[in-house]
Amino acid sequence: MKREQWGSRAGFILAAVGSAIGLGNIWRFPYMAYENGGGAFFIPYLFAMLTAGIPFMIMEFSLGHKLRGAAPRAFSKMGGKLEWLGWFQVFIAAIIAVYYVAVIGWAISYLSYSFNQSWGSDTNAFFFGEYLKLGDNSPSKLGSLQLHIAIPMAIAWAITFAAIFTGVKGGIERASKIMMPLLFLMVIGLITRIVFLPGALDGLNYLFQPDFSKILDAKVWSAAYGQIFFTLSVGFAIMIAYSSYLPEKSDINNNAFMTVLINCGFSITAGVLIFGVLGYMAQEQAKPITEVVSAGVGLAFVTIPAAINLLPAPYILGPLFFLALVVAGLSSHISIIEAVTAAIIDKLNWSRKKAASIVCGTGFVVSMAFATNGGLLLLDLVDYFINNVALLTSCLIELAVIGWLFKVADVRSYVNNISEFSIGKWFEVCIRFLSPAMLAIILTTNLVNTFNDGYGGYAMSDLLMLGWGLVAAMFVVAVLINLASKPQSHQEA
Ligand code: PHE
Ligand code: NA
Repeated sequence: MKREQWGSRAGFILAAVGSAIGLGNIWRFPYMAYENGGGAFFIPYLFAMLTAGIPFMIMEFSLGHKLRGAAPRAFSKMGGKLEWLGWFQVFIAAIIAVYYVAVIGWAISYLSYSFNQSWGSDTNAFFFGEYLKLGDNSPSKLGSLQLHIAIPMAIAWAITFAAIFTGVKGGIERASKIMMPLLFLMVIGLITRIVFLPGALDGLNYLFQPDFSKILDAKVWSAAYGQIFFTLSVGFAIMIAYSSYLPEKSDINNNAFMTVLINCGFSITAGVLIFGVLGYMAQEQAKPITEVVSAGVGLAFVTIPAAINLLPAPYILGPLFFLALVVAGLSSHISIIEAVTAAIIDKLNWSRKKAASIVCGTGFVVSMAFATNGGLLLLDLVDYFINNVALLTSCLIELAVIGWLFKVADVRSYVNNISEFSIGKWFEVCIRFLSPAMLAIILTTNLVNTFNDGYGGYAMSDLLMLGWGLVAAMFVVAVLINLASKPQSHQEA
């Protein structure tokens, strides 16, 4: 059967950008920038973008384009001993998929609350108390299923399922062509109102005011690299799957630069948006900005609702913000599910409809663990291990394989042959030396710190089972699948 293909170049770029732009850009990036030195964060961030993000994107686009498979097939075509790496990445995608959808579910709930700000005035108590009903649960003591969270999650799954089931061109590409322009319009609408609010510029000054003392701090560099891989969706099977549907004639270099630059430009825009709102809020409440900012998840579901309460026309700006969050999240969720579905289609020769039904059905059931009282804690713990241990390991191994087992010079001449502008020798330097060295340092630091200090005050048994144990199990199962594969599977290469 002939492999599906994107209908147009713009369709592919919108889908790739749709995957890249997600919840990570709207609430994670502004908070990371703020916490890691404000304006000074941009130096490590831009450095990581140029020396790791862009080369990685070019490399993954070329792997998918040349090897015509989702991650497991692509890696197995490079040699039968590498299929496990593809499965390890698919497992990362599958796990992210089941908790990412919970955050989309919250955003859908908040979209409905935003029309009349029914989250009330104490948005902190509302989110953790009334909405999540966190109580005294833990990552392994989840409490009971919360229907008011499960239902919006089911809606998110239904939309993702419809796109994946329908196919690459008719489903994913069509959804991206609607969602991405809609998202850009909403953000432009929000920003033109927000920057004119009193105090907004103080918020921006705050974000962009560099704290250069942070630039020698290893943690800041680690945060910048982690953010780049997560935000670009590289290293966990997504971009390989998407680029496996590229037509023969495709300008890889150009596509990769566009995807990275649009994503990072969007992040900075979102930073302006969020900090503009925070500056306004600080002014309204006559408080310093540091006192209105809250961390991570809390930023989008506690601080922003509180700020919306204070905005002029909150019933317009509130829904716009949460709809933007939902759309950004859904287009990313579609891409993670496609990475898993495509791997199964390649491996088992199932029809797309069958694979999509089984993947989304299983995913829905598993994701219900995050619709419980303790769901947020489980999410926090699993997300930490996936991002700081599994994802960075996967990226490092991928770099080592391409840079050292294979000739990265061949990748460069391959992409230069089919692209309008050529990339220079710097590409090889980044893939072979610079990025692996940085990643090795960051990963080692993370491993040592997590091993010694644990994370977030969770119980040792939870860390062992849901953190270390989960990552180890993903690795073991990936290797077992690899061992069970017949060697013929890669002979068609
Ligand atoms: N790139 C996405 C973001 O920034 C994150 C993501 C996408 C995560 C796809 C998983 C899968 O939010
Ligand atoms: Na992103």
